[in-house]
Amino acid sequence: MQSLKNLIKKAEKNKVAIGHFNISDAMTLRAIFEVAFELSKSQKVKIPIIIGTSEGEARFLKMNLAEAMVRRLREDYNFPIFINSDHTHSLKEVEEAVSVGYDAIIFDASKLSFEENIKQTKKAVEYIKSKNKNILVEGELGYIGGSSRVLSSLPIDVSVGSKDLTKPEEAKQFVKETKIDLLSPAVGNIHGMIIKAETILNPRLDINRIKKIREAVGIPLVLHGGSGISNADFKKAISAGISTIHINTEIRRAWRSSLEKEFALNKNETTPYKLLSGTFAEIKKIVYDRLKLFNNLK
Ligand code: G3H
Ligand code: ZN
Repeated sequence: MQSLKNLIKKAEKNKVAIGHFNISDAMTLRAIFEVAFELSKSQKVKIPIIIGTSEGEARFLKMNLAEAMVRRLREDYNFPIFINSDHTHSLKEVEEAVSVGYDAIIFDASKLSFEENIKQTKKAVEYIKSKNKNILVEGELGYIGGSSRVLSSLPIDVSVGSKDLTKPEEAKQFVKETKIDLLSPAVGNIHGMIIKAETILNPRLDINRIKKIREAVGIPLVLHGGSGISNADFKKAISAGISTIHINTEIRRAWRSSLEKEFALNKNETTPYKLLSGTFAEIKKIVYDRLKLFNNLK
């Protein structure tokens, strides 16, 4: 099985992106895996996926359980599925992710000053690599908001104005000093979806900036906050140098609305797997569309 590092390199070379999807339960993991597995079979090419658990998601699911489920799928099906500790803010969480065997860790100090972000990220990279140099470490530069949810307006503290977006020169210095493997920049992307009267109002991506950052840093770029970005912007972002894309809110939204529907339709039903079957199908639809788009499949 190829390493995640090589698969990201390959994705970049082929101008496609690996889909990263968050989970906090086994059903969502199964839905994501099934789509990638079935698509791989029909396309006759394995489509790698990354499963993410944020600190909150990992607290709910448990890191050791999440890692074990993903590893089991990888081994039993000989399939390129990996697990990432998403937006890890403290060294304590980093230690746990390392000790249970996560494949990748995002150390997120993006809310701090540039200098403090460098200092803390560097420390996290040194710790992780001293324990296992194969774990990929991602750093974040530029604050894009803290939660994967439906928003009614743009949060005031996110970096979306051109003077707050990640600057190529700063990104270069950040990567050089911290020695991260992957960089997540702020390029117009935000966590969550802004929805008003059924219309999605997320900002547009600064495609030229993605290109300049990629050229300046010389390492793969990750696009966070994928929910709410238009298909056209995704395509351009991948061509400009994005090789991994994170999706969470779209899945959470489908989870909630389909559950509400099922509950309303089946007032006397109490069997979880019966009530959840519609949710399972809805999550699969979202992942299917995203994987097809990111991997340029017909
Ligand atoms: O790390 C998680 C992602 O960046 C998800 O962002 O909820 O806007 O899709 P999203
Ligand atoms: Zn994110």
